Amino acid sequence: MSVAYLNGEFLPLSEAKIPVMDRGFLFADGVYEVMPTYNGRIFRIEEHLLRLDNSLSGIYMKNPMSMDEWKNMLEVLVEKNEGKHQSLYLQVTRGVSERDHLFNEDLKPTIFAMSKPLREKTSSPGIAAITREDSRWKHCDLKTIALLPGVLLRNEARSKGATEAILYIDNFITEGAASNVFVIKANVIKTPPKGKHILPGVTRDLVVELMLDNGLDCREEPVTLEELRDADEIWITSSTWEIVPVITLDGRNVGSGQPGPVYAEANRIYQEFKENF
Ligand code: PDD
Repeated sequence: MSVAYLNGEFLPLSEAKIPVMDRGFLFADGVYEVMPTYNGRIFRIEEHLLRLDNSLSGIYMKNPMSMDEWKNMLEVLVEKNEGKHQSLYLQVTRGVSERDHLFNEDLKPTIFAMSKPLREKTSSPGIAAITREDSRWKHCDLKTIALLPGVLLRNEARSKGATEAILYIDNFITEGAASNVFVIKANVIKTPPKGKHILPGVTRDLVVELMLDNGLDCREEPVTLEELRDADEIWITSSTWEIVPVITLDGRNVGSGQPGPVYAEANRIYQEFKENF
């Protein structure tokens, strides 16, 4: 049975309840993180907790726990749950109040975390993606729980037989509905630079770092829709997906329509890092 954490207590997930007046429920007034755990160790925990801190300050909330308190709580949660590899979800909302757009600074936040098993993977056969206009807001750098645009975009992708929607504003790629995007042409790896329109993905940052450390040509530069459509390879990255090649885009093959050689190399480097962290 899955064990969750809610406001200071560990309890079976099925027993974790919040009041309907929670601002997370009424206004999506909160932030979250998703982090993978391999062999009982939480991957890139500090990076996730730093981003959580940034998301909280971005919505004018104080971090309710110190770095060590978060780490201790999450480590206990991992221990209490089964599964060698787990996906941890944590959410902080502004707490319970009257339904009023205006909030008080002194509300007690709701702190929730849960775990689910993460399937072991060492490579991906590739996925289909579609392109869509980025219909989200202008603070996509904050990881808020207001995910309806992303939910609709991913479901639209599914209705077209695809897994992910790659988003653009004007002629420039931002990111996936739930992932970051890399585009490869003639062995040059490009990913859109950080800013208000993309989530600073923990996996994205690690991939950039690992590619550079291993002598690959990896650049954080704007990527146009034409470059996306003309790419030899496209990858998407996230904490639960890791690096996944996109093998068809809007129904057309990307490159050969198979995971490419640069993906094979990047994934080998990533898996090796994962094994040894
Ligand atoms: N989503 N961009 C968006 C919009 C995302 O939702 C995610 C991850 C990412 C990748 O970030 P990271 O590498 O830190 O996981 C980029 C998580 C996994 C989710 O919502 O389930």
